[in-house]
Amino acid sequence: MTPMINSSLAIVFVICAVGATFIMLELRGDPKVRPNINFLIKLHKILGWIFISIFFFLFIVMIKKISGYNEEISARISLHIGLAIALIPLLAVKLIIARRYPHLSQNLITYGPTILILAVTLSGITAGFYFIRSPELKYAAVADSANTANLISGKTIMETKCTYCHSQERIVLASKSKEEWESTIKRMVNHRNDPGFMTKQEQKELIEYLLRKNYNPDY
Ligand code: HEC
Repeated sequence: MTPMINSSLAIVFVICAVGATFIMLELRGDPKVRPNINFLIKLHKILGWIFISIFFFLFIVMIKKISGYNEEISARISLHIGLAIALIPLLAVKLIIARRYPHLSQNLITYGPTILILAVTLSGITAGFYFIRSPELKYAAVADSANTANLISGKTIMETKCTYCHSQERIVLASKSKEEWESTIKRMVNHRNDPGFMTKQEQKELIEYLLRKNYNPDY
């Protein structure tokens, strides 16, 4: 799953939430001026099921990624996870009321917009973030575990090899593109003038880490 696919699914997820909520509000209006009421109910249900399917699919993807994390999770990702978990009981109660306790369905008017708010916020801080930063961002808001391993070793490389001549602050405060980091590191390797200083693989892992750090200072 690429970040692009995940984030696009998240956008469809939000569109379904918006559609289902506004259809529901429309249904609460005056029924006399709505001849196509059955069609709207059907559409509301279809959008609702697409929403739930995408939600559980992305939830499983998210859990798989997080299980590979060794480092402390950033505040943004913690919020994303918290909102996703909060959606589960909300959706469950909403569905149970709609299906089993129709006489309580008057209360659902508060559930729909609440679910919509959670869906927009939880997608906005991840998928929204991805689309804004996408030109250079190689990772989704929640990184894959394989990449996480590289990021950890990239950090170790920086801490051990790059602090020989100057402090780490000089590196972590710099924000550069991939090409800029490649040329900076090439220059640093020349400064060091020691063929065994850093392998190509180490440079690659270091750059991965530094790029990620540009976008998420928590790493
Ligand atoms: C042999 C000594 C030495 C080592 C090892 C070293 N640096 Fe440097 N670094 C320098 C010197 C000298 C400068 C200032 C001159 C320059 O920018 O080339 C500098 C400047 C920098 C700067 C600020 C200039 C810029 O282009 O933004 C960054 C960032 C940097 N180093 C990153 C690194 C990284 C990453 C590593 C690990 C791969 C590293 N350095 C390892 C000597 C070193």
